[in-house]
Amino acid sequence: MKITLIGFMGSGKTTVARLLSKRLRVKWVDIDKLIEEELNATIPEIFKMYGEEFFREKEREKLEKLLKSKEDLVISTGGGLPAFKDSMELINKFSVSIYLESPFEVLWKRISKDSNRPLVRLGKEKVKEIFERRVPFYRKAKFTVRTDSSSPEESVQEILRILGS
Ligand code: S3P
Repeated sequence: MKITLIGFMGSGKTTVARLLSKRLRVKWVDIDKLIEEELNATIPEIFKMYGEEFFREKEREKLEKLLKSKEDLVISTGGGLPAFKDSMELINKFSVSIYLESPFEVLWKRISKDSNRPLVRLGKEKVKEIFERRVPFYRKAKFTVRTDSSSPEESVQEILRILGS
């Protein structure tokens, strides 16, 4: 089985994916990390050197390859991936998608000081706009788990419960 975690920056995708993969004893792959490894550069460097469009195409390429592989996987995605082209259709066709949902104010508090996220530099109002534009894509996920009022461990418990039912 493949499980894909989606959601905005700061929603807990990476932490929850790591814990979930341990629980399920299934390999965890983080798409941002794959891209950083391939290009031997950080996300801000990649945005600066190649531009955002290039990064989006890379995300998409990695996603498709992972989803079409034979392995069982827990996949964590970057916050922008679901809103690029038909990514959600692909995710839903080949995996169980889970949206980690939190209100914007909570997310902004978590991400606003993070220099590893190039989009954060655009400022709160612009990032809020991006968030609102993406929510309809995130809502295409098969399941939604709230991550603002629960610990990553509790979110994992909730996902395990969902998967078991
Ligand atoms: C992005 C989110 C980041 C990373 C890149 C762009 C976005 O991933 O892919 O900085 O467009 O929301 P996280 O959601 O893991 O922070």
